[in-house]
Amino acid sequence: MKNRNVYERICKNLEDTKDLAYKFAKLAEGGCFVSLYGEIGAGKTAFVKLVAEALDVKEKVTSPSFVILNEYHTARIPIYHFDLYRLENEGVSTILDELREYSEGRQLTFVEWAEFSQDEIPFSHMKINVTYEDDDSRKYTFEAFGEENIKITEALNND
Ligand SMILES: Nc1ncnc2c1ncn2[C@@H]1O[C@H](COP(=O)(O)OP(=O)(O)OP(=O)(O)O)[C@@H](O)[C@H]1O
Ligand SMILES: [Mg+2]
Repeated sequence: MKNRNVYERICKNLEDTKDLAYKFAKLAEGGCFVSLYGEIGAGKTAFVKLVAEALDVKEKVTSPSFVILNEYHTARIPIYHFDLYRLENEGVSTILDELREYSEGRQLTFVEWAEFSQDEIPFSHMKINVTYEDDDSRKYTFEAFGEENIKITEALNND
């Protein structure tokens, strides 16, 4: 049985990223743990905002860079959005229990700068790498680990 699957898409502009985010949101409504990689300004937060919008979030979605965690309870499923950048390696240990807790059940958890907690990420997760191509063009690469997440990348590949 396969335990890893990849989907890749070049989004030529923000509208294109929105299309991808809406498709992903629909497929991830059963819950998903997402780790986001990519350099500063690549488009990690932009993707989370669009997924939250697709799930009808009522609040304004902002970057959690300074607060580490933002929670949204007005969307179709609870959304937890971590940004570990300011914690770096040492600080991450202080929130590991929280991170694990939020990864279970029917909710959507996003972790930006997950490289700081690489070893603590649950096996079943969706890894999304964002790379800057040029101007408004970005490449989103999804790497699915675990059965439920593989269903998501397979559906995206078959779209
Ligand atoms: N196709 C695209 N997809 C996503 N974002 C795009 C695209 N084109 C332009 N952008 C812009 O690129 C910027 C991405 O910023 P964003 O805050 O999402 O970066 P980030 O990866 O979260 O960075 P950080 O590491 O600082 O948190 C936004 O201003 C967004 O509007
Ligand atoms: Mg960000």
